[in-house]
Formats: sequence, C-alpha cells, structure tokens
Amino acid sequence: MTKKPIILTGDRPTGKLHIGHFVGSLRNRVELQNTGDYEPFIMIADMQALTDNARDPEKIRNSLFQVALDYLAVGIDPTKSTIFVQSQIPALNELTMIYMNLVSVARLERNPTVKHEIQQKSFKESVPAGFLTYPVSQAADITAFKATVVPVGDDQEPMLEQTREIVRSFNSAYHTDILVEPKGYFPPKGEGRIPGLDGNAKMSKSLNNCIYLSDDAETIKKKVMSMYTDPNHIHVEDPGQVEGNTVFTYLDIFADDKAKVQELKDQYTRGGLGDVKIKLYLNEVLQNILTPIRERREKFEQDPAKVYQILKEGSKKANQVAEKTLQEVRDAMGINYFN
Ligand code: TRP
Repeated sequence: MTKKPIILTGDRPTGKLHIGHFVGSLRNRVELQNTGDYEPFIMIADMQALTDNARDPEKIRNSLFQVALDYLAVGIDPTKSTIFVQSQIPALNELTMIYMNLVSVARLERNPTVKHEIQQKSFKESVPAGFLTYPVSQAADITAFKATVVPVGDDQEPMLEQTREIVRSFNSAYHTDILVEPKGYFPPKGEGRIPGLDGNAKMSKSLNNCIYLSDDAETIKKKVMSMYTDPNHIHVEDPGQVEGNTVFTYLDIFADDKAKVQELKDQYTRGGLGDVKIKLYLNEVLQNILTPIRERREKFEQDPAKVYQILKEGSKKANQVAEKTLQEVRDAMGINYFN
C-alpha cells in the first residue's frame, strides 16, 4: 500500500468558530477527509493562541472545548482524522527552537499576516517574542507530520512560504531530505472569505459581526434580518445594488440554487424586490446548512468526557508521529550524543 499524502491544519482556540471559518477552511477539510485519499491531522493550536493571550489561559482552555465541538459538529470524524492539542506535543516546541536559528529576525518582521495582526492588536512597542516567532512554530507543526497538504484560509499563505523556506534551509544545512515542503490548499477564488454581517470585509469575533456555528435558529434569523444590504435601497420599488450587498454575497456562497439567486438579483436590480424577501430566503438557506451542524454539536456538548477522550487519543497518536520526526531531525544534526 502506498502511503497517503498527509494533511495538517488547525485553528487557534480563542473563541467559537463561525461561518467564516466554515467557508474558509472547515468545509474543505471535511471534503478532503471524506475522499479517503489523505491522512488528516487537525490541531487545536493552543500554544499559538497563547502567543497573544498569555494572561488569559482560561479563555484558551474554554475555547479549546468549543473548537473541538465545532470540529465534530461540521463532520470532522475522529475515525478518519486525528484531532489533537498542540500543547500536548512536546516535540513541536523542540523543533521550533531548532528552526528558530534558521530564520532571521528581519524575515519574521516582513511576514505580511503577522505585520497586519501586530497593527490590529495594537501591541505597540511590546510585541511578545512568541508572537513574532509563531510562524516558526507553525513550520514545526506542519513539518513534524511531514504534511504536504495544508487546507487553510488565504491569510495563511505567508506561513506556508516561511515553512518551505525553513524546510529548504534545514535540508541544505544538514545535508538531508527528511523534511518535506507543504502546499496550501485554498478555497476556490471568491468563496473563501465572507464579509461580516455589517458589510465589513472580514467576519471576526472582535468586530461582533459573526454567525457562529453554535447560534440557535432564532439568533441566526435575527442576525440575517439585521444584515447590511444596499443603503440606498429604501423603497421596495427602488432599483437595488447587488454588488457589495452582503445578503447576495452570502447567497452566492451558500445557496445551491444558482438560477434562483440570479433571478432574485435581476429582480432586485430592476426594483420591486424588498430586502426582507431576500433576507428570508437567505435565512432559509443558512438554517438548512446550520441546523444539522448545531444538532450534532449539542449532542457532543452533553458528553464532554467523550470529547476530551477524542482529543486525548488524537494527541497520543500525534505525539508518536512528531516524536519520530524529532528523532530524525536530531540524528540529521548529530545532536543525538547518547544513542
Ligand atoms: N495560524 C492558524 C490560525 O490562525 C492556526 C495554525 C497553527 C495552523 N498551526 C498551524 C494552521 C499549522 C495550519 C497549519 O488559525
């Protein structure tokens, strides 16, 4: 039997996951998992979450459970994917220290995603060293499993580039080929990112413009009915704008009946179609997708012991794989004095 390509991906546990995560990467992961053509590892990146939440470990602890529920709810299946917890895999930290010496500070400071986050989080002068270097730890996450496929959102491309550079530096510095270069696996163009309910380019917890996978039916409806549309579309008979209209952006992403969406768009553009109608249709589309997810989530939520058992078993398996890679890394470097 030939070995299946390995998938490694994950999320920082800083809150519940929302439909932005769903279209950005969760959907892809479940699809890849269900092909049976890969060996997937899905990691809850609590160490990375601590790089900007060092003083709030309680939040990370709570979110870890919430993210695990979200994973199981969307269909990540522990019999097909190994779900594990980053902090329980000591080899990742050791690999990070080793890789750190192969990356310059200037290179870390050029990472566009990290740069953007630093501005957003207003660390000002006091960016934690752990935060600046998290792309190195992410390279450890990916290479420890020799993953070649990394399903993530577009904002993670700089981390993959950094990982490939580290792989090349390592292999060339220590005359080996044990580390492998990963590729990102991104959602189709235009489908990987959804705007917030308020029309902001990004759906994000801090902007308070999300629909969570755990939201109940009533909350979803309330949120949909409050969505940003076309501010100049005041009377039903007015011609409306489809472009930049968040409701239509969501319909493009979530509705299967493309012909119906096109019909609504035409009618909206001509005038004579009210916002309430398109919102009610979007509500129906979203409820159809989110109801089974929420129901699965509630079932797991009632059995925390089972959820932690899944994480524990996954972490045990992940630990063995990462440990093996670490031994190979130590051997390649000759820091294996007592073997
Ligand atoms: N940086 C990712 C995020 O912000 C989480 C993450 C950590 C990750 N390590 C990873 C993603 C390795 C893919 C591969 O969500």
